[in-house]
Amino acid sequence: MKELVLSLFIFILAKHVNSCYSIPTKEQFQSCLSKNHSIFKNPINLTNHTSDSKVFTDFSESSSPNSSFLNLNFTSLKPILILKPKSESEIKRSILCSRKLGVQVRTLSGGHDYEGLSYLSQSPFIIIDLVNLRSININLTEETAWIQSGATLGELYYKIAKTSKIHAFSAGICPSVGVGGHISGGGFGTIMRKHGLASDNVVDARLMDVNGKIRDRRTMGEELFWALRGGGAASFGVVLSWKVKLVRVPEKVTCFISQHTMGPSMNKLVHRWQYLGAELDEDLFIRVIIDNTQDGNQRRVKTTFQALFLGGIDRLIPLMNQKFPELGLRSQDCSEMSWIESIMFFNWKSGQPLEIMLDRDQRYEDLYFKAKSDFVQKPVPENVFEEVTKRFLEKETPFMILEPFGGRISEISETESPYPHRRGNLYNIQYMVKWKVNEVEEMNKHVRWMRLLYDYMTPYVSTSPRGAYLNYRDLDLGTTRGINTSFEDARKWGERYFRGNFKRLSLVKGKIDPTNFFRNEQSIPPLF
Ligand SMILES: Cc1cc2nc3c(=O)[nH]c(=O)nc-3n(C[C@H](O)[C@H](O)[C@H](O)COP(=O)(O)OP(=O)(O)OC[C@H]3O[C@@H](n4cnc5c(N)ncnc54)[C@H](O)[C@@H]3O)c2cc1C
Ligand SMILES: *[C@@H]1O[C@H](CO)[C@@H](O)[C@H](O)[C@H]1NC(C)=O
Ligand SMILES: *[C@@H]1O[C@H](CO)[C@@H](O)[C@H](O)[C@H]1NC(C)=O
Ligand SMILES: *[C@@H]1O[C@H](CO)[C@@H](O)[C@H](O)[C@H]1NC(C)=O
Ligand SMILES: *[C@@H]1O[C@H](CO)[C@@H](O)[C@H](O)[C@H]1NC(C)=O
Ligand SMILES: *[C@@H]1O[C@H](CO)[C@@H](O)[C@H](O)[C@H]1NC(C)=O
Ligand SMILES: *[C@@H]1O[C@H](CO)[C@@H](O)[C@H](O)[C@H]1NC(C)=O
Ligand SMILES: *[C@@H]1O[C@H](CO)[C@@H](O)[C@H](O)[C@H]1NC(C)=O
Repeated sequence: MKELVLSLFIFILAKHVNSCYSIPTKEQFQSCLSKNHSIFKNPINLTNHTSDSKVFTDFSESSSPNSSFLNLNFTSLKPILILKPKSESEIKRSILCSRKLGVQVRTLSGGHDYEGLSYLSQSPFIIIDLVNLRSININLTEETAWIQSGATLGELYYKIAKTSKIHAFSAGICPSVGVGGHISGGGFGTIMRKHGLASDNVVDARLMDVNGKIRDRRTMGEELFWALRGGGAASFGVVLSWKVKLVRVPEKVTCFISQHTMGPSMNKLVHRWQYLGAELDEDLFIRVIIDNTQDGNQRRVKTTFQALFLGGIDRLIPLMNQKFPELGLRSQDCSEMSWIESIMFFNWKSGQPLEIMLDRDQRYEDLYFKAKSDFVQKPVPENVFEEVTKRFLEKETPFMILEPFGGRISEISETESPYPHRRGNLYNIQYMVKWKVNEVEEMNKHVRWMRLLYDYMTPYVSTSPRGAYLNYRDLDLGTTRGINTSFEDARKWGERYFRGNFKRLSLVKGKIDPTNFFRNEQSIPPLF
């Protein structure tokens, strides 16, 4: 009955909104939130909800329309309101008021979306910022954790480390990334070769749907639960919390870096790594970072091998001597540490207090960037790295990160979760170029460079279709066009992220959100 009343309400309002297209004001929205209307229990106390937020100021007000959010013309549309709910019922009310007033919802956890889709929109919108809903409950008996989706990876890692010396969670490296976006988009990290992606370790989830109804794994059904683990949750509703499986790690792990500056030997090492990265023991993760270094007034390209080994130095050295002697690793290049310290190590923060893991504000402030991704299935010829080096010398801050797969990633079938880039993929490439000056010409210059590099790489990476990683979102791949985007139109970019799973995601979307309320520039269109 409530639902019926609500739909009627929305219908009338939607008509009203469409016919005169007036954007609801903040006051209208606030009045909806605070009224003791029959269909809404628990009016929201607006005292602490404002329309000014750090995120918004950083990315929308100062940088739009010159933002790095690329081929969209994000006008300087501000969110009507930024809500920071303190309870799940406040989220419900925010969703219902948004439907009633015909505005869109952007859900924001860590705010790290590469194209800003959690805080920018071309249509009138509100932001639901989950910052106040971030509790973490660890159950060591079960070796699981319930995490509210406003928590960051750093907060999760810190809590795990304070609770146990031998547990970890398999997810990304950067502590300020939010679990809301990250886990629902996959989640690459240093122990993924042994334990799979973050999304592979989800055992339950609580989702609020378009009607404000909360569903867990049992009540949402296995299809929707499947979709949330890699399909990007923003298309389906608001994930309130995840239940994840913790994994066991040794009390001491080993890390090393090995740096090399440009030249034939560097290219040889990267070339060789391609054959090994995905083949090595699952306990060993070696990623490659290619970037620039300034040496006086000379610019050089350098390669860094950054590694985590789930074991001690005594086992690592013989392994490296046998498999990758070209790197010449010595025990004095290695350090033993706890798993949480290895996260600090990968963030170049070794030796600092663990509490910096709790810093949520390490965003890209005053820094603009464009990123892209690729999957590599057969080793790239050595001369390609020479060409990449040449191109890098043209830029101040380009970089490329190569992250190896194999191990657990390959054991999971392509259809077991929406993330399809499994067996047969050697590694992922993340390309990024950053700049500091927020001007259109400056942006265009760097973006053009990035697109040319991406074109250059075409013959060497996955095809039919060329794969891309959802968590490195790239609007160059294509965007949806409004509420009635067809499945056929969206396939162009959708199958690049999800391959054959895209259709299944669209069918799930058709069931849970048939009116396509939860949508953004790259959301899954409903299919019936
Ligand atoms: C500095 C940096 C380092 C990174 N390191 C890694 C890494 O090591 N490994 C890796 O795999 N990726 C990495 N990423 C990419 C990262 O995984 C994605 O950007 C991820 O989507 C960020 O999640 P978030 O919650 O911080 O982002 P947000 O911008 O808050 O959200 C991203 C998307 O998810 C939606 N969303 C967020 N929360 C919810 C929710 N509760 N319910 C429904 N939808 C939601 C948003 O609306 C948006 O569409 C990194 C990104 C940055 C900027
Ligand atoms: C809202 O209405 C309910 C009954 O419908 C009442 O019990 C409650 O006190 C009201 N709250 C406010 C803030 O007016
Ligand atoms: C809202 O909260 C503030 C501060 O917590 C309080 O002063 C105010 O009376 C509350 N308003 C309502 C309508 O409950
Ligand atoms: C508003 O914030 C203050 C300070 O954090 C807090 O004490 C108060 O309870 C909050 N009020 C509401 C209604 O959330
Ligand atoms: C972007 O949209 C705004 C408002 O609709 C318009 O004024 C502006 O010219 C557009 N910019 C581009 C580059 O299309
Ligand atoms: C932890 O999980 C076990 C096993 O399911 C359960 O019996 C126990 O109650 C849980 N502990 C807490 C604190 O929730
Ligand atoms: C955006 O770009 C225009 C044109 O380059 C420039 O005049 C303007 O100052 C820029 N705005 C901001 C906020 O940087
Ligand atoms: C979307 O499709 C529905 C049903 O076909 C139609 O009624 C509606 O007008 C369309 N909306 C837009 C904005 O095209």
